[in-house]
Amino acid sequence: MITKNIIDSYKSWFDDYVNQFIQQYPDLSENIEIKANHCKKVSSEIIALAQSLNLNNEEVMLTEIIGLFHDIGRFRQFAKYQTFSDSKSQNHAELGVEVLKENNILNDLSMENQEIIYNSILNHSTAKIPPEKNERIVFFSKLIRDADKLDIWRLITEYYMVKEQKPARLSAKQAGKAGPAGGENKALELELPDNDEISDNVLESIINKQVVMKESMKTLNDFKLLQIAWLFDLNFDYSIKRLHEKKYLDKIFNTLPENHKVNKVKEIVNEYLENHIETFTY
Ligand SMILES: [Fe+2]
Repeated sequence: MITKNIIDSYKSWFDDYVNQFIQQYPDLSENIEIKANHCKKVSSEIIALAQSLNLNNEEVMLTEIIGLFHDIGRFRQFAKYQTFSDSKSQNHAELGVEVLKENNILNDLSMENQEIIYNSILNHSTAKIPPEKNERIVFFSKLIRDADKLDIWRLITEYYMVKEQKPARLSAKQAGKAGPAGGENKALELELPDNDEISDNVLESIINKQVVMKESMKTLNDFKLLQIAWLFDLNFDYSIKRLHEKKYLDKIFNTLPENHKVNKVKEIVNEYLENHIETFTY
């Protein structure tokens, strides 16, 4: 059984684990803190999503654990490679499962719950959920994929806002604790070049209402479009509704150049939203 005590012990282990990295790598603390904050916010997002689907208490607590630990591999990844690009370093989801196993974190849980947590973490960042017979693993993977996307949209739209408003020389302290430091944060842009280019195969995926493959990205605009195309991969009406209410996509569009490619994407996204939002019962 999952208890409140277990959840509390995971939260304090998480804080201790993150603090070790901050102490050992003070120069990297800004991005370590951004990721730690993301883990906590994803945890809140996934709880709200789970509750919207009327899951029971035990299942809600299970989602909370998946949310908190889904990116636990990011800290080791960033400390070792100073990038969040898996292709330039290592698969951060696999790293996360390694970290949890090395530290015997999930030992108090049933084998079934451990399997759900490990597999949901492994499946959270793949382009698609790999073929899987266990329906509960598929279900919890869908939950974390939606919650993660919702909070990444929050994170990057806050980042683009700060980036445009504040000069690069502003220090982290001056920019305040709420968001990333003023100016650029190349790690959040996967070190992609910020020019006006949009790759044709990225646009083509969106025209086909498909998610964009990470390998197709060549520019920061491509990455922004990849994140916009996550819309097509949302699994629950609740998530589309939340995305719409938070206006995350409009905020990303505001940072893109105005040209016929971007206009085409806007058209497709608006049509998709209209078709899906109609079905909501308010
Ligand atoms: Fe992740």
